[in-house]
Order: sequence, then C-alpha cells, then structure tokens
Amino acid sequence: MSDRYVDFANSSIGHRLVGALGLPSPVRLERWQAGRLRPVEGALLSGGGPLAEKVSAFANRLTDAIYSYGAEPSLATAWIPGHGPKLKAVVFDASDLVQTDQLKQLREFFQPLMKNLDHSAHLVILGRAPQTLSDPFAASAQRALEGFSRSLAKELRSGGTLQLIQVGEGAEDQLEGPLRFFLSPKSAFVSGQVIRLEACDTQVTDWTRPLSGRKALVTGAARGIGASIAETLARDGADVILLDVAPAKTDLEALAARLGGRSITLDICAEDAAAQLIEQLPDGIDIVVHNAGITRDKTLANMTPEFWDAVLAVNLNAPQVLTKALLDSGTLSDNARVILLASISGIAGNRGQTNYAASKAGLIGLAEAWAPLLKERGISINAVAPGFIETQMTAHLPFGLREAGRRMSSLGQGGLPQDVAEAVAWLAQPGTGAFTGQALRVCGQSVLGA
Ligand SMILES: NC(=O)c1ccc[n+]([C@@H]2O[C@H](COP(=O)([O-])OP(=O)(O)OC[C@H]3O[C@@H](n4cnc5c(N)ncnc54)[C@H](O)[C@@H]3O)[C@@H](O)[C@H]2O)c1
Repeated sequence: MSDRYVDFANSSIGHRLVGALGLPSPVRLERWQAGRLRPVEGALLSGGGPLAEKVSAFANRLTDAIYSYGAEPSLATAWIPGHGPKLKAVVFDASDLVQTDQLKQLREFFQPLMKNLDHSAHLVILGRAPQTLSDPFAASAQRALEGFSRSLAKELRSGGTLQLIQVGEGAEDQLEGPLRFFLSPKSAFVSGQVIRLEACDTQVTDWTRPLSGRKALVTGAARGIGASIAETLARDGADVILLDVAPAKTDLEALAARLGGRSITLDICAEDAAAQLIEQLPDGIDIVVHNAGITRDKTLANMTPEFWDAVLAVNLNAPQVLTKALLDSGTLSDNARVILLASISGIAGNRGQTNYAASKAGLIGLAEAWAPLLKERGISINAVAPGFIETQMTAHLPFGLREAGRRMSSLGQGGLPQDVAEAVAWLAQPGTGAFTGQALRVCGQSVLGA
C-alpha cells in the first residue's frame, strides 16, 4: 500500500501547506538501487579518536570523497564548515571519551555539521560498551553517548539517520561491514540504534556478493517482507530456498524460479515439519530466516484460545522447534546465521496484541539466551524488530492505527519490506557474527518502546 501523505508532503503545494500547518513532513528516503556499487555516494567525513584511523584504512572503498575534521587521518581532505561539500556520511570515534569533561567534543564536532548534511545523510558514532569498562566514570561517559545519539537522531532532518556502534575488543579491524550497511541507503529506515559488535572469525571476501556460496532458507517467503528478504539474499549471492504454506504455492514457485532458487511448501506448525524440513535440506543450511508470522488481534477480554494458540504456534513455537531440530540434526552449518523476525510490538507492547507481542518478545528472548550457547560454533542468532512496514499485514489495519504507526517515528513514515530485507541481509553476512544475541530495530526510530 502506498503512503499518499508522503507523496502529498513532497508535492509543491503539499510541502507549503504541511509547513504552514506544522504537520509532519516526511521526505522520500533514498534507498539502495540495483547496480549501485559504492555504499556512500557523496562526501564522507570522519573524525574523533583513534578508530577514525581504522576507518580511513578502508574509506576509499566506501566513497571517492573522504574528508576529515578535527584530527587529520591520512588520505583525507580537510572539511571546513560552510565551505566543504554537504555531507552524505559521517563517522565520529567517541570510544576514547572517558570523562564528563570530554563529552563536549560531541557538541564541538557535530554542531558545525548539522546545517551541512546532505539529503538522507547517515551518521555513525563509535563507542565502547559501558558494561565492558571497569572505571565507573568511563562507563558513565560511554553510556552518555547513548542519550546523545538517540537525541541527535531525532533532530536530523531530510531522512538522516544516526546509530551508535559499541566496538568490542578485537572488533576494531572489522568495521567495514557494519559501516557499509549503516552509512549507506541500505539502512534507510534504521535510526537511533545502539549496536554492540564483538570480534568475529569469519569475514566477507567479496563485497559485491557477500553471501556467495551460502545456502539460505526463508520462511513465509511467498509475499511481503519474506519475498523481499529472499530477493535481497539472492542479490547478495546466496542460494535461496523459499518456504511457505500450500495455498501460497503458485506465488512461491514463481518467485523461486525468478531468483534461481528452490521452493518448499510446508506449514511450519505441522507435527512433522521439522522432519520434513531436514529431509528437504540434505546439503545443510547456512542462513535461516524465520520470517513467517501471523496476527490474530483481539483485546485480551475477547481473545479466543484459537487466536492465542495460532499466533504462539506460528510466531514462536515453530522457530524454536525448527531451529533446535536443524541444530540437533547437524543441518545448520558452523558459522550459520539465524535471524528471527520479531516486532517493536514485542518491545513496546500494543493494545489488542497480547498474543502477538508475547510471541515477538519471546523471539527476542530466544536470541539473547541462545547466542552465548551457539558462539562456540560461530553461529549468530539475532532478532530483527520491524516497526510499521507497508505490507498486506499493515494494509488491513484501521485508518487511525495505520496513520499513527506511520507518523509516530523520527522519519515520519512507514518502512518498506526492502528496509527489513537489507537489515536481514547484513545480519546474514559472514562478518556479522560479531553481532549476536541482539534485536535490531528497523522502525525509523519509532517512538514506541524507544
Ligand atoms: N508488516 C509489518 O509492519 C511488520 C511489522 C513487524 C513485524 N513484522 C513481521 O514480519 C514478518 C513478515 O510480515 P509480513 O507483513 O510480510 O506478513 P505477510 O502476512 O504479508 O506474510 C507472511 C507470510 O508467512 C506465511 N505463513 C504464515 N503462516 C505460515 C505457516 N504456518 N507456515 C509457513 N508459512 C506461513 C504466509 O503465508 C505469508 O506468505 C512476520 O513475522 C511479521 O510478524 C511485520
């Protein structure tokens, strides 16, 4: 379903009217287009502490236009406020800020940039996870970065986004993958997030096809977000296996054929679903995306046992049972990536969705609890929590709820299936084992549960 308000707000009359009435004025977000090669098309500015040097080691693979401000990393041209080009991407290393007094460097660095950002600019602050620091003042300074970055993300205009990446020990040399995602339009609908990175043994070798040679299973792949995930994983080089229920067989097979993949028709709640799946994956699997999901909304007072059971069975029990079976049977390879489609309902709660929110929160809990146990085999498990995404699922919402879902975020609009798919594709990469046991929100910094 298209968002007509975004079209109106970007028309010449609409733009003026929206401004005069003080209404939200969402911009058209820049998104990754097929055939594009460089993550950043425009000026990249980096500055701050020692990790800026690490970034400058690969910055020329991100863009041709590299600038520095403050410190002087090699290979960069000095950026002068008011004279330099508009900035498309910014990285500031705040990992060495360990005292309250040093936090003013944030204001000093970012203030001159704020009126010099390009359309859909992507900003990243690098820091350290406070819980890994023994000095309480240092931990406090690093925690301060969270409040700063979430607030600054809300002040960005014209589709700008900002994330804080907490770089763990050993992960300093592995920043290219995350920055290729968070500084590019692939992360158009991700903002205000705090991401923890740890060191990871496996790395991407070919950035044009980062999933080359990997076999990926996507459940609920016949339409909506699942179809987009399958397309994006295939674009990135994965051999895709698309799964959906029998009534969706025609769409499923057509998409699988177009992507050069294979299809499996299966109800993931069937009693023998695990056995059937294992039989269909004799060569093992490297990426599993548990995307299939349903809603059966009712307030708890009116919730039938059937509605409750159906949602918990599809959304939570099936991913648990199937993942365990794939692990126990040795079907899931070492260094596999498991991605669970949660929802911000599972973080914030939502009226009429006690069943759905319970199932989605359960998935986030599953990722958190399973991640440390799977680390030994290099397997990562994460949840992706979409906010309001334009699909058939949200097209059926009542008008008021649909509008609230779209506008109550920093970007003032709903996301597209492609936005969720890009996040999943990043989490599926070999190098993203550095990110595990976490929930990545793809919600335009929705105010819900923020
Ligand atoms: N659309 C949103 O705004 C939004 C927001 C947050 C989370 N999500 C989550 O993202 C995922 C995809 O959402 P969507 O909007 O694309 O939904 P959708 O309803 O368009 O597609 C879901 C797919 O899952 C399949 N499916 C359902 N039950 C199944 C079963 N038992 N076995 C196999 N396949 C089954 C359906 O046939 C369908 O093709 C879901 O898990 C959903 O909860 C969506």
